[in-house]
This record gives sequence, C-alpha cells and structure tokens, in this order.
Amino acid sequence: MADHFVERSLEEIRFWSRIMKEHSLFLKLGFNYDDTKLIREADRFYAIFEDIENKSHALTANTDPEYMYNFNNVVYTAVSHIWAFKRNLLGLIIQCKTGGNNFPLLVDHISREANYFRNRLKQLNTGTLDPLPDAIVNENVFFLRIMADHAKFINHLLDPSERKLVEQARDFSHDFDQLLFQAIDLDSMRPQSQTVPLLEQFVDQNRISVRQLRDFKKAARDLIEACKIKSIIPPLLADHVFREASHFLEILDSFEAALTNVR
Ligand SMILES: [Fe+2]
Ligand SMILES: [Fe+2]
Repeated sequence: MADHFVERSLEEIRFWSRIMKEHSLFLKLGFNYDDTKLIREADRFYAIFEDIENKSHALTANTDPEYMYNFNNVVYTAVSHIWAFKRNLLGLIIQCKTGGNNFPLLVDHISREANYFRNRLKQLNTGTLDPLPDAIVNENVFFLRIMADHAKFINHLLDPSERKLVEQARDFSHDFDQLLFQAIDLDSMRPQSQTVPLLEQFVDQNRISVRQLRDFKKAARDLIEACKIKSIIPPLLADHVFREASHFLEILDSFEAALTNVR
C-alpha cells in the first residue's frame, strides 16, 4: 500500500509537472513583448516546475513514503501558486488590462488542469482517492471537457486555409461536447447510474472517441513538426495536447481493466 502511494505520486508528478512547466512557456509566448512582469512570473514558474520535474525523476519506487508525503506537499504549494497566477491572469485578460494571444478559454483550461493536479496530490496525501465508480464519472467529466477544449483550440489555431483539418477539428469539438453532456447526465444520475454495465459502456464509448482524437493529434503534431501544414500551433503545444490525450486513454484503459476485475 505504501509502495503504491509512492509510485502513484511519482507518476502523477512526473506527468503533470512537465505539463505545468510547458503551460508557463505557452503563456509567456502569448504575452505582449512589453508585459515584462508577467513574462518574469512565467519564467519563474517554468524554473520551479522544471526543478520539481527533475527531482521527481531522481526519486524511485523505493522512496521513503514520508519523504514522498512531504514532497507532495511542496508540489501542492507550487501548483496552488501557478493556479492562482492563471486565475489572476484570466481576470486581467477578461478586463482588457493585458493583451496578447492567450485565449481566455485557454487560460481557464490550464487553470483547471492545475486544479486537477492539486486535487490529486491532496487525495494522495489524505488517502481519499475516489472509489472506482466515482473515479470513472469524475475523470471522464474532467477529461472530456479538456479534450473538447483542445479540439476548439486546434480549430482556432490552424490556418483558416487548412479547410479540411479545420473541419475535422470542428467535428471533434462537437463529438466531445456531446460526450461531455452524456457524462454530465450520468453524473447527475449518481449513484443509480453507476452500474457495471452502464459504466462499461460509458468507458468503451469514450475510449473509441479518445483514441480517434489522439490519432488526429498525433498526425497533426507530425505534420506541424515536418512543416507540412499552415498554423500558429507551436510543435511543443501539438505534442502537449497529444500527451494529454494519451494520458486520458491510459486512464480509460485502467478503468476498463478494473471493471473487468469487478465482474
Ligand atoms: Fe495542458
Ligand atoms: Fe490541456
């Protein structure tokens, strides 16, 4: 049990600290060149999460659980700070107190990812991870919205002349909006909706769409890296959203395996 706590903590920190580090860079790239205070803050967060990422890779499954507990707390504080930075920034953008290229929905989106990470660290340290039926509903409600947002960002950052790709991104956006509403309906029908057959079908259906979206993101990433399509999507951002889809897919695979064991 203690080993599982360490492994799970390391997995989450390794994945999400890199994500937080990259968010800092994306925000920085989107600021106006003379917003030096915001640029400096973004740089500071980049360094903080790069440091956390490096430390997490230096730790192993044999790490003392108490050490892991304390490290989780340190990371929790850093994530709380970047979350507050993102929410504050959202206010500045919406009130037109700063400009640049960061969409409000993007800033909201990355603040939700920070909040998710922070919540996971808290669950790990307090031993309050969701039981399987709740995890299935909660993770899907969270990630389906993330996936729907990604499709919308890709849609808006592709060059408008890339008509076929823009159309595909729009279709994914619609598809995931529908899946998200289904998930929200299942959520509101809790706990009656949490039967094994319903959850199995729910996970199965979502997996099919997430796999398609993941493949689309992978293709887009490769095309962007090879400079074969016109867009204002940095290659790192294309890879970032691809990794988040792969992460969601791994979670869905683990749910499928867990549900099979329940049967
Ligand atoms: Fe992200
Ligand atoms: Fe994301």
